Amino acid sequence: MLGAWTRRLPLLSLVLVLVLVVVLVLDPTSGASTLGLTVAVVPLDSDGGQTVRAHFTSISAGSCPSLSGLCPEGDDCLLHRTSVPFTGTRPGSGWCVRQWQRTVSSRYSANVSLGSDTEFYVSLNATPKVRANSGRLNQPVFVALPPPLRARVNCPHHFHLSVKDPDGDKVQCRFARPERGECLSCERRPFIELQEEKCILFFTGKAAAGQYFIHLMVEDLIPVPKISHVTNNSPLSSVPLHLSLTVEESSTSCTDEPLASSETPAEDSVMFVLPYEQIKFNIHYISEAESVSEVAVVGPPELYRTDLTSVGPLAALTVSWTRSENQLARLLPICFVANTNSLQSEPRCVWLYQREMKVLPSGTELKCGKSEMTLVLPVTSLSNINLAELQLNSPTCPVSYNSTHLTASISLSGCGTKTVVTSLFLEL
Ligand SMILES: *[C@@H]1O[C@H](CO)[C@@H](O)[C@H](O)[C@H]1NC(C)=O
Ligand SMILES: *[C@@H]1O[C@H](CO)[C@@H](O)[C@H](O)[C@H]1NC(C)=O
Repeated sequence: MLGAWTRRLPLLSLVLVLVLVVVLVLDPTSGASTLGLTVAVVPLDSDGGQTVRAHFTSISAGSCPSLSGLCPEGDDCLLHRTSVPFTGTRPGSGWCVRQWQRTVSSRYSANVSLGSDTEFYVSLNATPKVRANSGRLNQPVFVALPPPLRARVNCPHHFHLSVKDPDGDKVQCRFARPERGECLSCERRPFIELQEEKCILFFTGKAAAGQYFIHLMVEDLIPVPKISHVTNNSPLSSVPLHLSLTVEESSTSCTDEPLASSETPAEDSVMFVLPYEQIKFNIHYISEAESVSEVAVVGPPELYRTDLTSVGPLAALTVSWTRSENQLARLLPICFVANTNSLQSEPRCVWLYQREMKVLPSGTELKCGKSEMTLVLPVTSLSNINLAELQLNSPTCPVSYNSTHLTASISLSGCGTKTVVTSLFLEL
């Protein structure tokens, strides 16, 4: 018996080595690839959508890579050199988020190098389509990028992917296809399934411990009623979503994961943000089995996060974001997960929506004094409004008017005036 075992063992390790070599050969991206990537694509009206502004968010394994080389000389390109990048310690040796934006062709594919050892291939298709219902350019889907996903051997798990289509189109997620030039090394795994219509990833649990990469395309389609026999409802656009799933060995039960408490904003919820408004919310987790070691967040540049406070099974973090003048996309996802030593909560994503503002009527003037601001509006811009009943949010702020102009005096220390410090000034 013993002899049989000793003979079998070297064979077993040889098989293991072979498997490892095969994995490394098949997946040249492992070790130095992105642990996640998405691109928010905004068609530019100025050239009829022939070019788009592509907002990249990428998660690199290890320490934060340099941003150099991402913006070719003379390109319309912006690097988000954020003061406190989004980072995490799990899985493996940690990760770091990098964000930048670039004007590229509406049909774009490229090999992108990030720092010295991250390289990835990205492909998107947003060739311009004018919508029959609005006469405006179609907007591709916005896709939220969660922090790197973790799961456990033999623990089946669903991952809901958060997507928003600005035009209200039907959205579907599908695996990227190498024959269409959507990915280079994108091996399909039998233990990763996808509900295309609902954008839900399903991990069956039947996988060896290891790191797996998932390349998806997210598409928008004009919704058609089921009864109409439209067979060729082709997608309007396709944007990439790359994810990583790290499968770990674990002895804890499959149901012990940290849970978000009811104070945490609901999955997929949208918060509307006015110019210079500050949005603030709390993220709370309850974890009975193991204490939460980090709440990992991926969100827009300059999203402020407090340190994690952890008391017994409770862990909490506050995040806030102030809208200053920016060139970011209109819809901004914020995704978070709680990590413990061997467990991870469901990823959850919420959205910030930067409200579009009406252009101020010509003749509007805002003067800043030492202790107050004076706003002067031409009365012609205020049709159907009874000027005598008009007041600011606080009735203590005086509003006066004559035949041509309305004048509001706004105290800097009253009237509900809030002081907002934006990083714009620090960068200048
Ligand atoms: C990216 O790299 C791959 C292989 O290294 C190559 O086949 C492909 O043509 C490149 N694609 C682009 C768009 O540069
Ligand atoms: C009305 O008020 C504005 C702002 O104070 C002033 O500039 C303007 O001359 C006034 N118009 C008349 C007709 O008094």
